[in-house]
Amino acid sequence: LASIEVDVSSLQAGMSLTAKWRGKPIFIRNRTEKEVEEAKAVALADLKDPVARNANLPTDAEANDLDRSAGEGKENWIVMIGSCTHLGCVPLGQAGDFGGWFCPCHGSHYDTAGRIRKGPAPENLAVPTFSFVSDTVIKIG
Ligand code: FES
Repeated sequence: LASIEVDVSSLQAGMSLTAKWRGKPIFIRNRTEKEVEEAKAVALADLKDPVARNANLPTDAEANDLDRSAGEGKENWIVMIGSCTHLGCVPLGQAGDFGGWFCPCHGSHYDTAGRIRKGPAPENLAVPTFSFVSDTVIKIG
């Protein structure tokens, strides 16, 4: 299936963009240090869904911040499928009680690592298969 390459060179810390892949929105965010720290500070036991849901990792990987992000050295980057795991609405960025994403359809709150923290959604926002092909280009799929 088709993959896409997205140029993220214009994204300063705190900025995001939405790409389109296989008909779905893909959220790419260059998180601020504060956002990363907030996500890191959350204990796994406090998560509704403790699984990373990261297609680049084993299916049993835990939802710690590193395994939700682009990984070691690129923890600031987060790439996710922008489809609420409740019924598929597109969540809004930098919104909700946890400073991450908020789905207005039925009120699901995701944190700065895209993990479901409150509301009816059962799972964290899914991380698609992706890799950095250079410092500024991300290949999705
Ligand atoms: Fe997002 Fe229902 S579709 S909360």
